[in-house]
Amino acid sequence: MADDTSIFIGASRKPDDSYQRAEHLLLQYGNRHGLVTGATGTGKTVSLQILAEGFSNAGVPVFCADIKGDLSGIAMMGTAQDFLVNRAEQVKLDPYDFQEFPVIFWDLFGEQGHPIRATVSEMGPLLLSRLMNLTEAQEGVMNIAFRLADEEGLLLLDMKDLQALLSNIAERADELGSRYGNVTKPSVGAIQRTLLVLEQQGAAHFFGEPALRIADIMRTTRDGRGAISVLAADKLMMNPRLYATFLLWLMSELFEVLPEVGDPDKPKLVFFFDEAHLLFEDAPKVLIDRVEQVVRLIRSKGVGVYFVTQNPLDVPETVLAQLGNRVQHALRAYTPREQKAVKTAAETFRPNPDFDCATAITQLGTGEALVSTLETKGVPSMVQRTLIRPPSSRLGPITPDERRKLIQASPVAGQYDQVVDRESAFEMLEKKAREAQDAEERAQQAGSGGSRWTIPGFGNDDPAPQPGGRRAPAPRPSNRQTVAEAAIKSVVRSVGSSVGRAIVRGILGSLSRGR
Ligand SMILES: Nc1ncnc2c1ncn2[C@@H]1O[C@H](COP(=O)(O)OP(=O)(O)OP(=O)(O)O)[C@@H](O)[C@H]1O
Ligand SMILES: [Mg+2]
Repeated sequence: MADDTSIFIGASRKPDDSYQRAEHLLLQYGNRHGLVTGATGTGKTVSLQILAEGFSNAGVPVFCADIKGDLSGIAMMGTAQDFLVNRAEQVKLDPYDFQEFPVIFWDLFGEQGHPIRATVSEMGPLLLSRLMNLTEAQEGVMNIAFRLADEEGLLLLDMKDLQALLSNIAERADELGSRYGNVTKPSVGAIQRTLLVLEQQGAAHFFGEPALRIADIMRTTRDGRGAISVLAADKLMMNPRLYATFLLWLMSELFEVLPEVGDPDKPKLVFFFDEAHLLFEDAPKVLIDRVEQVVRLIRSKGVGVYFVTQNPLDVPETVLAQLGNRVQHALRAYTPREQKAVKTAAETFRPNPDFDCATAITQLGTGEALVSTLETKGVPSMVQRTLIRPPSSRLGPITPDERRKLIQASPVAGQYDQVVDRESAFEMLEKKAREAQDAEERAQQAGSGGSRWTIPGFGNDDPAPQPGGRRAPAPRPSNRQTVAEAAIKSVVRSVGSSVGRAIVRGILGSLSRGR
């Protein structure tokens, strides 16, 4: 039934409920984005599943989040259950074949899939500030931190890098303030505390290397099917902000990495954003603007973004207006807000004289939806009451055992499983601190009283708390004399400039002295 230019979605029905015709999503408009909405239990996940199946069969890689674990079954072959076979007959899906799909499981926590990571620099100050829900003043400090890291060549990979940098900034608050504008210790302290909370919530797993290579979510199989990346999101949903920020990061990363392709025959990647309301809920205007912009521009990179959410009102109008392919499942209309949602949803469709859209939305059955896709010249088709086809893969979750086997056999097995901790800001700042401390000790041994090597602030500062409960620096090597000698030279050099002095003081206060 499916051909190579479209995906079979289901069958529309006439006013008397009899079969009307097959409904399709045209692959050439797959990058014009989409929306799947509906109340709980109305069939959103199954619609997502059959769309993902369709894209995969057409050779289009898919990325989707699995909020409840019930999408994971897409990796297994479906079975002929009566209600599914029944549905297949209703929509004239003949033959109704079962199929397992090439799935790569991912998990920010590395438990139910391959770990998925980004570096702190890749995430950037805007998204990090959003993730941490920072105030404007704190966000200003975050921006300064990133600029400083750039200027001083400090690599920001993981959370301990960011913590070390922030400690350093707190120590240098006065000096930095005159250079960049307001940097107050309390605001740096507040950011550091938020970082600790984030770490406790498990976000530390997410920041670091090896970071996700975009190519790994754009794979196809040898038989020409698109890989379906399924992100385990059940645990992740307990931190909705991390969930939303991560997906937003991924979207902007795709946008930045992928080349322009104009209007391809089929998308290069399709990205399903489930529970999309989390992205927009009390998001600041700049962020919504950014989402709007990315959604608008990512189309020409061949990426289709499909938002999945309960209520179309969850999606800002500027974004909504760009979602060309729509699957609207049933909505309830008890409360005024619900009635408004029904009205809005109804008004976004190109009307069908056969039925009243708003009434139909409240009467749709499970796995039934109002469907409108883009047809010739990208014009939305007239809305149709459509019975959605049943999936070819398994409906419902896979077992932990099945998951484990699939993870082991995955094409990225072994690539992301071990964290790599290469030298970055934390290690660099720690090393400088150690060198400075050696120099100081050496100076004290050498001089009686008025040593030339006294470093301002050393020995007087309150030891700052250790970021993330870090261990104190490792014991110095036994060839300390020579190391110290070398260090003295470097300290003398660096103390020459006010910046160097500040680093030495900052590092001593924050890294070497906390025990
Ligand atoms: N196209 C379909 N064909 C056959 N059965 C379907 C179809 N769509 C939905 N169903 C049935 O309805 C059930 C609920 O659908 P689904 O899990 O997709 O709802 P949902 O909108 O995602 O719910 P929630 O908001 O709770 O996640 C499915 O488990 C399945 O039994
Ligand atoms: Mg669901």
